[in-house]
Amino acid sequence: MSDDAVKEFEEGLAKVEASFRSQLDACGDEQSLRAVNARIAGPTGELTGLLKLMPKLPGDQRKVLGQKANALKSAVSAAFDTQLLAIAKAVRDAELSGPHLDVTLPGRNERTGSLHPITRVAYEIMDVFTSLGFDIVDGPEIDLHENNFDKLGFPPDHPATDMQDSFFINAEAGQKQRSLLRTHTSTMQVREMQKRKPPLAIVAPGQVYRRDDDVTHSPMFFQLEGLLVDEGVSFAHLKGVLTRFAQRMFGDNVPVRFRPSYFPFVEPGGEVDIGCMICRGYEGTKEALARQAECRVCKASGYLEVLGCGMVHPVVFENVGYDSDKYTGFAFGLGIDRIAMLRYGISDIRWLYENDVRFLSQI
Ligand code: DAH
Repeated sequence: MSDDAVKEFEEGLAKVEASFRSQLDACGDEQSLRAVNARIAGPTGELTGLLKLMPKLPGDQRKVLGQKANALKSAVSAAFDTQLLAIAKAVRDAELSGPHLDVTLPGRNERTGSLHPITRVAYEIMDVFTSLGFDIVDGPEIDLHENNFDKLGFPPDHPATDMQDSFFINAEAGQKQRSLLRTHTSTMQVREMQKRKPPLAIVAPGQVYRRDDDVTHSPMFFQLEGLLVDEGVSFAHLKGVLTRFAQRMFGDNVPVRFRPSYFPFVEPGGEVDIGCMICRGYEGTKEALARQAECRVCKASGYLEVLGCGMVHPVVFENVGYDSDKYTGFAFGLGIDRIAMLRYGISDIRWLYENDVRFLSQI
């Protein structure tokens, strides 16, 4: 019985010894290597099975056979480790000699939105005025008739209130005053002056509403109102500020022209034109004048109207409780849409309000 056990044990050792190396060497990947190792040296492996037979061996042979078996176990383990390293190295070599992974290739970008051209131009305009010391203020789009017209010096039933073609809001029972969608941001002159004392310098951007609808007019559009009040403010200050504004927006060489005009809340009142940046007729060369003669944007005049302005009328000061003997000031109002159209060469104002990304993404 014990002779059989010895025989079986020795045959088993010989069998494993003869084949383990070639079995392990033949494995080309880690998974199959581990599988072969488990078949030999795992808990139910061939070699492990043999070691379990040890107690059955006759005592005089147990030691020698045991040493043999342990040596074989170590040899299997060493061969496994060597082959594992060889496989890892082969994998790494294949990676290094394979095609390059270009980590600098740009990935796919998310399509992000961007600021609307009107918002962009409004920010630019506000930048210019804040750098000149003006505060930015905001107010409601629905306002009282009083703030939109009366306190600005429009006499009751003045044709101007009609001319503005306003959107009135149906009066509620018991309401003393009519409200309307403001027709201009000049309401903010009244609101700010009633809120604070001079000196003050503000700009107020925002939406305004009129019953107009064609290529150059939209029933809703954007204005920016400016107001500066202090002691000793003169027309020279108005001219300096607005000239600087035009130069910052349209370039240092752009000609700026002040023309007299009428608005009830200023005296004297004026309008500011700048040289047409589409034909640049102001360059005065033969070619420039030829471009001007053909220019449809400035209608061959060489100039574009960009804003209304003037010295605040004493009546407005009295209406808001300022002493008109002590204080003077200037005001101006410009169309942000109009400046955006000039800046980007847009010929129809309605493009700005249709939210068509095919148009917006070109700007
Ligand atoms: N509110 C005027 C309009 O909408 C524009 C304007 C003109 C504003 C003269 C002013 C100004 O402050 O002084 O047509």
